[in-house]
Amino acid sequence: ADTSTLRSLLLNWYDGVHQRRGMPWRKPFDPSLDSDGRAQRAYEVWISEIMLQQTQVATVIPYYNKWMEKYPTIRHLAESDIETVNALWKGLGYYSRAARLLEGAKKAVEELGGRLPDNAKDMEAKIPGIGRYSAGAICSIAYNQCVPVLDGNVHRLLSRVLALHAPPKAKATLDILWSGASAMVEACDRPGDVNQALIELGSTVCKVRDPDCRSCPLAVGCRAHQRQQGTTKEKEKSQ
Ligand code: ADE
Repeated sequence: ADTSTLRSLLLNWYDGVHQRRGMPWRKPFDPSLDSDGRAQRAYEVWISEIMLQQTQVATVIPYYNKWMEKYPTIRHLAESDIETVNALWKGLGYYSRAARLLEGAKKAVEELGGRLPDNAKDMEAKIPGIGRYSAGAICSIAYNQCVPVLDGNVHRLLSRVLALHAPPKAKATLDILWSGASAMVEACDRPGDVNQALIELGSTVCKVRDPDCRSCPLAVGCRAHQRQQGTTKEKEKSQ
């Protein structure tokens, strides 16, 4: 299947009953937002994406809500201190994430006019703790820009779709997967939804063990699935 077919299948799945609702950081992109509104969305998505990096959605939700009550804007965060931030983070683990959020907010307020950069490249270059994944997630979701994401879930899902058997961390492998992820959002009007659908499908259906191919919208276009089916049929024939 070509990329635009895969993308439609993915978005249909995401729009349907499979979308996990009730995530407070998920708001549809609003094209009427001015640059302040977009910067505020980028702040919210930044906080959610950093919390979600090593932590499950259900765990993150109450922490995210508490955080937004305490630090409704990046300026509120920039005025805080590490003890207060760590106290709010208590129980989430990987405390360096919280320290980097504080550091990033201070930098944005002191050096960047109180806003995260308006594009992925600058975000990655200028904000501590924001790598290629986070920059892609924030810019696609908050700014509707066609930039890709590749986290562990999307890495596994695309490796299966492409039947890529290669050392997972090798540069050549990562280049192929980033290209595949880019193709999924290229010239797309809903890049944030495509990226979140990929993350979600990877974490809930295309699981590490026992992927649930019967409920996967991409099974028709998945080379790993096709090969699996091929071997099942071969086995049936030979029995
Ligand atoms: N994990 C990382 N980012 C996510 C998102 N935007 N939605 C759900 N799970 C996620």
